Amino acid sequence: MIELDRSSSQPLYRQVYERLRHSIMSGQLKAGQRLPSTRTLASELAVSRNTTSWAYEQLFAEGYLHSTVGRGTIVAPQISEGLLSVSPVTARQSPTQKDTPVLSQLGNTIVQSQTIPATRPGKPKPFRSGISALDAFPYHLWEQLLIKRAKNSMTLITDYQQTVGYQPLREAIALHIGVTRGVRCQAEQIIIVTGSQQALDLAARLFLNPGDLAWVEEPGYFGTRNALQNTGAILAPIPVREEGMDVQVGREHYPHARLAAVTPSHQFPLGVTMSLKQRFALLEWAHQTNAWILEDDYDSEYRYSGRPLEALQGLDRGQRVICIGTFSKVLFPSLRLGYLVVPPALIDHFTTLYRSVSVHAPILEQAVLTDFMQEGHFARHIRRMRSLYHTRRDALVQAIQNEIGNKVQFQVPETGMHMVIWLPWSMDDVAITQQATSQGLEVYPLSQLFLNPTGQRPGLLLGYGAFNEEEIRTGVRQLAKVLR
Ligand SMILES: Cc1ncc(COP(=O)(O)O)c(C=O)c1O
Repeated sequence: MIELDRSSSQPLYRQVYERLRHSIMSGQLKAGQRLPSTRTLASELAVSRNTTSWAYEQLFAEGYLHSTVGRGTIVAPQISEGLLSVSPVTARQSPTQKDTPVLSQLGNTIVQSQTIPATRPGKPKPFRSGISALDAFPYHLWEQLLIKRAKNSMTLITDYQQTVGYQPLREAIALHIGVTRGVRCQAEQIIIVTGSQQALDLAARLFLNPGDLAWVEEPGYFGTRNALQNTGAILAPIPVREEGMDVQVGREHYPHARLAAVTPSHQFPLGVTMSLKQRFALLEWAHQTNAWILEDDYDSEYRYSGRPLEALQGLDRGQRVICIGTFSKVLFPSLRLGYLVVPPALIDHFTTLYRSVSVHAPILEQAVLTDFMQEGHFARHIRRMRSLYHTRRDALVQAIQNEIGNKVQFQVPETGMHMVIWLPWSMDDVAITQQATSQGLEVYPLSQLFLNPTGQRPGLLLGYGAFNEEEIRTGVRQLAKVLR
């Protein structure tokens, strides 16, 4: 029953092992059935004795075979009928009703309410948003820093590390955000995590009970919504207007919320900056009601004109703001490094929770990032990228004006790596997105970023950070065709 493929790249001992294992699993070889000796099988198959010995040893080790005095090698008697009748599950098989795993109530809610689009491997297509200029990253420099650290410091950093993160990195971040973002903090207040998503998750778990209300921006970031909903909290959509989240609406309709999640420097997705008036109103509400504010400062580094407003955290005198930063936009998303800036009274609470969730973020990457920052490459990279994104933004705006004209409306973004175009009311942005996908584009329908999409003006989210000018122009020409 064993046929070997001598032209295969799979070694013969492995083939013998797999054929025998398959025969046992499929019931061709029954429990208790006797097998030939390794010598006999080797001669029957015209292979070396080593080959059959290795296969048998592996099957013994895994419990498929037994050796008995007098009868030699037999198929293990305790391999149950049930096990043998189980057909191998392939990853693609969809579970039947009976196979559906029994989850907790919260587990079910989480699985059913998640709206994060699946990450798509491969080169991003125009106009995937949220991706930095991966074509312009200083890979060689990063590689050199990585090799240097791996060579010189590995023996010092292979043990478990501090949960709060690598101390020199915490110091470098505190210095950077103090100068560039007006965040007022000591390095001790910084906790390094694996990206903003984890920061949002930790904060949500610490502050929200099931059934609590949490203000979210409408439209807003799905990652934030998912993290808050995972705790069983109820989302309260607060409209975003020209001055950012309309705090008055929140105060009127959901005054007892426990938390507000905002992107004040560059609202996601609309791109507006929260005015000072709204910032003070938000802080005042939080102080009066003892609510928490999660400030997601995800891409404020790239402002092309005007003066950036400093982080909300810098205005907070009452220790109500948790500021969240990420290196996903400013460097690259798979780095999976970000940070929380927490009020001093909460450092231990966050650290205790984080220790039980993740112990700490990967240390080698933290060390390399520290070098990247301390040696001045980080500041230089930001300067280079700001100018590149500026050019790419201009190319996108110009191409839309040339190819699509006044069919759509938009505000020229002053910061970041994406923009929103508003479509005519008669269009369906989900249908347009599907057609754009079939043309090799990756746009995102704005309606999907609303908790209540009905009655919202259709629009598309276009990322421009990851595409060169030619790709942008070609992409807009294709989009124009789709819209026509
Ligand atoms: C509003 C917002 N926050 C945060 C992030 C980054 O998340 P992470 O740091 O988990 O990669 C994104 C990425 O698209 C975003 O759009």
